[in-house]
Amino acid sequence: MSALIPLGVLCFAIGLARAADAALDMDLMQNVEDANKSLASNIALRDAGASAKDAEELHTLFQTVEKHYLAKPEAPDGLALSRKSLQLTEKIQQQVGAQDFGGASGSATELSRTCRACHTFYKQS
Ligand code: HEC
Repeated sequence: MSALIPLGVLCFAIGLARAADAALDMDLMQNVEDANKSLASNIALRDAGASAKDAEELHTLFQTVEKHYLAKPEAPDGLALSRKSLQLTEKIQQQVGAQDFGGASGSATELSRTCRACHTFYKQS
């Protein structure tokens, strides 16, 4: 029985190492996709609270994306585009906070362009 415990710990450790290695996984980008869609519709609905929440969630997700590219000096455009996304999601939070939905909509369009720019560089499929 006792031999099973170290084995379990080992499997857990390997699982963690894998998770850290595959930081930019499909789940992360799927969450980015969902939050980005929700943000666009909440800006259109002029719902400041929900828009700010989506922008904040995107900001947190892009912090993970930034970390991924910080560890990849061979992909400087990914780092620059992660940082641009961080700036835009912060700006959107300020804009909806000030009820500037026109400005927020412009920033959201710019954010979507940033998504596409990064995918052109790095998305495999
Ligand atoms: C800094 C780079 C970068 C930015 C910015 C970025 N992505 Fe991605 N995205 C990727 C990469 C790389 C992949 C491919 C991941 C892989 O193949 O492991 C991807 C994949 C995806 C996928 C496919 C996931 C799947 O299940 O097939 C979606 C959807 C997606 N991104 C949405 C977005 C949206 C929406 C934004 C903007 C709000 C965005 N991404 C911004 C790098 C980025």
